[in-house]
Amino acid sequence: MPAATAPSTPEPDGGLQPVAEGIWTQAGDRLRLAGIPFDTRAVVVRLPGGGLWLHSPVCPTPARVAALAALGPVAHVVAPNRIHGAFTADWAARAPGAKVWVSPRFPDRHPGIRHDALLGDTPPPDWSGTLDQCLFAGHAWLDEVVFLHRPSRSLIVADLLQRHDPAREAPLWRVLKGAFGLMAPGGGVPPDLRLTFRDRAAARAARDRILGWAFDRILLPHSVPVETGGKAVFARAFAWL
Ligand SMILES: [Fe+2]
Repeated sequence: MPAATAPSTPEPDGGLQPVAEGIWTQAGDRLRLAGIPFDTRAVVVRLPGGGLWLHSPVCPTPARVAALAALGPVAHVVAPNRIHGAFTADWAARAPGAKVWVSPRFPDRHPGIRHDALLGDTPPPDWSGTLDQCLFAGHAWLDEVVFLHRPSRSLIVADLLQRHDPAREAPLWRVLKGAFGLMAPGGGVPPDLRLTFRDRAAARAARDRILGWAFDRILLPHSVPVETGGKAVFARAFAWL
């Protein structure tokens, strides 16, 4: 039933892990939000012009900054929802030439963070040749924009879908996250998010649009990626809608 799970090999600090041609992930630190531990991981896409598209950037240590610089200049910094932008300001400061893109409600929550444009339901010309995007509508407060990297058939989901790495969790968290179906090789939508959708028809429309995309892999900044069979994992995670 569950899709194959990638081995949970921690990358050396700063290291970029190739996903496919033109797309990498970059491991960050393990952080806590409201006491709950979780991993962080950026997704890096090299656009045809050579500029980098940086989704969910991690804490910018010198090694991580250098690893990205070796790949190309950061052209876009992307904060895909209003609670998922921990290091947006740090990267905006380090890459003054980059355009900072944030979710529609991000500026209300983070008025002090510079942004250049809001993410919408369709990709801007800056990356529409490489990436598609969908604003997952219908939630009371989460305004997540889900992306598709077309060349590698990779879906990129920030917080809506979680499948944490059993090898990285202490026993207590393994049990708790497992009880809510949030551990790999399964995975799902965290219960607090499930309970706070307000417009399920709008959410279903977003889900169905995403399911119409051609993808097989799912990259998850807090979780173990789905290497193959991603469409079934995504469909199962949102079947309750
Ligand atoms: Fe997040």
